[in-house]
Amino acid sequence: MLIYLIGFMGCGKTTLALKLADSLGFEAVDLDRFIEERNFKSVPAIFETYGEEHFRTLERKALEEVAQFSNVVVSTGGGAPCFFDNMTFMNSSGITIYLDTSVELLSERLQKSKTDRPLIRGKQPGEIEIAIREMLDKRSKYYNMARIVVANRDNPLPDVLNALRKNGYIQ
Ligand code: S3P
Repeated sequence: MLIYLIGFMGCGKTTLALKLADSLGFEAVDLDRFIEERNFKSVPAIFETYGEEHFRTLERKALEEVAQFSNVVVSTGGGAPCFFDNMTFMNSSGITIYLDTSVELLSERLQKSKTDRPLIRGKQPGEIEIAIREMLDKRSKYYNMARIVVANRDNPLPDVLNALRKNGYIQ
């Protein structure tokens, strides 16, 4: 079984992937870290050196590689579902779970986050919230193509496990 966690930057995909993998006895793979290892460069450095378009090509290639894995939970970058036919590709190679998170929670988390994110770098708190709204407006239609949608809260793991059970993916 292969599970893809999708959702906006800062929604908690990486943390949830570790917890979910632990509960299922799977491995967790973070797509951004996978891209960095394959290309010997950090994600911000890839954006700076080659631009976003090139990053999206590397991201798609990484998805094609991880699609070969089994018993893995993959946390994907916030933009991964929104380029090429990545959502269709993920839906045909695994179970997609969208961690649906409010603008307020995203904004709070991204303001506190120490991770360098090229798409919101250098923005003031108010600007971050505006940027989130604008991006979510464009991205939601891709995120909502996920097989399972879970409303995000403090600890979304029980809801994710319940949804997997309800849909017959686990016992
Ligand atoms: C991006 C999200 C980032 C990373 C890159 C672009 C996006 O991952 O892939 O900075 O387009 O939303 P996280 O969602 O883990 O922050």
